[in-house]
Amino acid sequence: MPTLLAIESSCDETAVAIVRGESGSAAELLASVISSQIELHREHGGVVPELASRNHSLRLQGLVEETLAQADLKMTEIDAFAATSGPGLASSLLIGSTAAKGMACALNKPFLAINHMEGHLLSPFIHNSSIPPHLALIVSGGHTLLIDVQGAGQYSKLGSTRDDAAGEAYDKVGKMLELPYPGGPEIEKAARAGNPQAYDFPRSMLSEPHLDFSFSGLKTAVLYTLQKEKGKVSIPDLAASFQAAVLDILVGKTLKAAKQSGHTLVALSGGVSMNGALREQLQAACNQSGLELAISPPEFCTDNAAMIAFAGLLRHLAGESSPLSEDIHPNLPLV
Ligand code: KG4
Ligand code: ZN
Repeated sequence: MPTLLAIESSCDETAVAIVRGESGSAAELLASVISSQIELHREHGGVVPELASRNHSLRLQGLVEETLAQADLKMTEIDAFAATSGPGLASSLLIGSTAAKGMACALNKPFLAINHMEGHLLSPFIHNSSIPPHLALIVSGGHTLLIDVQGAGQYSKLGSTRDDAAGEAYDKVGKMLELPYPGGPEIEKAARAGNPQAYDFPRSMLSEPHLDFSFSGLKTAVLYTLQKEKGKVSIPDLAASFQAAVLDILVGKTLKAAKQSGHTLVALSGGVSMNGALREQLQAACNQSGLELAISPPEFCTDNAAMIAFAGLLRHLAGESSPLSEDIHPNLPLV
């Protein structure tokens, strides 16, 4: 049964994982380690690319050794190596991709370049034996995507953001409210004590028939409210009202996409899917419409290498590999 080691280094998490599996049965996750750089970037209010790549490079070797030890394997027992090749920060992607290629080259084993968004998309099914047809909502720091999934590797895009991603909007509003980076979890925390009806923020494009998203108008509405109510604003009320608008848009568009595509299974993934209110609101809406919902397990929502290893294993088992000349692609589309 093939064993695959994968590296994720597209942004500010350095992560390594090892999976083993064969076609038709659920893959076994043998080890998964993540070293987050969030604390390092927090003092700068966001990710500093050079700091990120330097730290990937400093930590990677130790993390590979730790992952092998956790799985009780020697490097020579790995059958294939994978790494995220995009989308992400160029200098960060280069570190993981070059390391995985180096190991593959030294051991004369195949290399697989993996799309980070495919990792997120597959993450709700990491414990499954196959990828069922479904409608995927992927919400991360850089992307907001609605994808019609027919099976592993068979994707068509139904909608995406025309400006900011949902996670990006959370992070930018977090910055306006002077909350620590990243804003997403901080806004969720603040919103718990607030009134979601305190401010009437726009639900941009919600009633339009297409399946694209827009969050920049909402972000600007929050900024104007802050400027207008200088000093008087309640952060919990503002956070709750902002979050209510984001969730109405995400849930509304997802249900519309499910109806249009005919899928009865919806899957939620990406960093923003850590948000408890989103999970609850989407679950309630799916229940009401007779749809099944699969949500990525919390440990696979934010960036991790297990999802990249899983995507890599599926491609390896399908007989695919990438040349060692394969470049990184900072703007790599999923479809
Ligand atoms: O998937 P991810 O780890 O990295 C990217 O591929 O971008 O997503 C990170 C994003 C950030 O924007 C972060 O603020 C957001 O996920 N996020 C959340 C929560 N936890 C993380 N957004 C809202 N609520 C959360 N609890
Ligand atoms: Zn991600």
